[in-house]
Amino acid sequence: MVRTVLTLQTYKQQHRKIVAVTAWDYLLAEILDQAGVDMILVGDSLGMVALGYETTLPVTLAEMIHHAKAVRRGVTSAFLVVDLPFLSYHISPEQALQNAGRMLKEAGVQAVKLEGGNPALVTTVGRLVQAGIPVMGHLGLLPQAVHRLGGYRQQGTTPDTAAQLLEQALALQEAGIFALLLEHIPAALARDLTQKLTIPTIGIGAGADCDGQILVTADLLGLTAHPPPFAPAYANLRAQITQAVAAYSQAVRGATLP
Ligand code: KIV
Repeated sequence: MVRTVLTLQTYKQQHRKIVAVTAWDYLLAEILDQAGVDMILVGDSLGMVALGYETTLPVTLAEMIHHAKAVRRGVTSAFLVVDLPFLSYHISPEQALQNAGRMLKEAGVQAVKLEGGNPALVTTVGRLVQAGIPVMGHLGLLPQAVHRLGGYRQQGTTPDTAAQLLEQALALQEAGIFALLLEHIPAALARDLTQKLTIPTIGIGAGADCDGQILVTADLLGLTAHPPPFAPAYANLRAQITQAVAAYSQAVRGATLP
């Protein structure tokens, strides 16, 4: 079944949880899509898990388009979203519109995701939505703002910051986002936001009560050497790959390859 923004909104009304994951290449995307996930995000975390950068900040628009095109070729059913990378949407609403437009025209994704909720960003979101581009919001821990935040720390932990997050979430909803990703905030705050918003919330490190959950697939599969504490692994592929390569090496070196 092909997912659209309407499918995701209907899932919220039906209290059916949304399953979201990230992908960065064709092979992975094809496996994830066939496994029946609802949403695939070409997250700029690919800068860290696929390109070896220390943060997501160096990721370029060209890199995101390159990876999004590969993922697109593997996806037939899941709703496909791509991150706009750092500084590709902050300079002006026009810059954001041009770059988001390239994601839809060149990479064939269905939506873009932008981090943050300050008034300038809300204006930009409104501009994209008016142009017909579905936008997913992202609040809480904002990896593109890691230096301003002083690290990958939990957000919304005080009454003031929790109130600010609620205000930003409502402003983004008003501007037209179709869903909101909530990263590394207290579960009680995520539950409150989920109840107050009419759009679906997708959580990561935000408790079980969001309308859906997302994980970086490298963490989910146990490929990452140092996953964040809020990202559970459902397989241990790092160890399995190491074992498989050791067995292959032994076969090659012992000339016992079939
Ligand atoms: O870039 C990314 O992978 C994200 C995660 C929080 C899902 O935005």
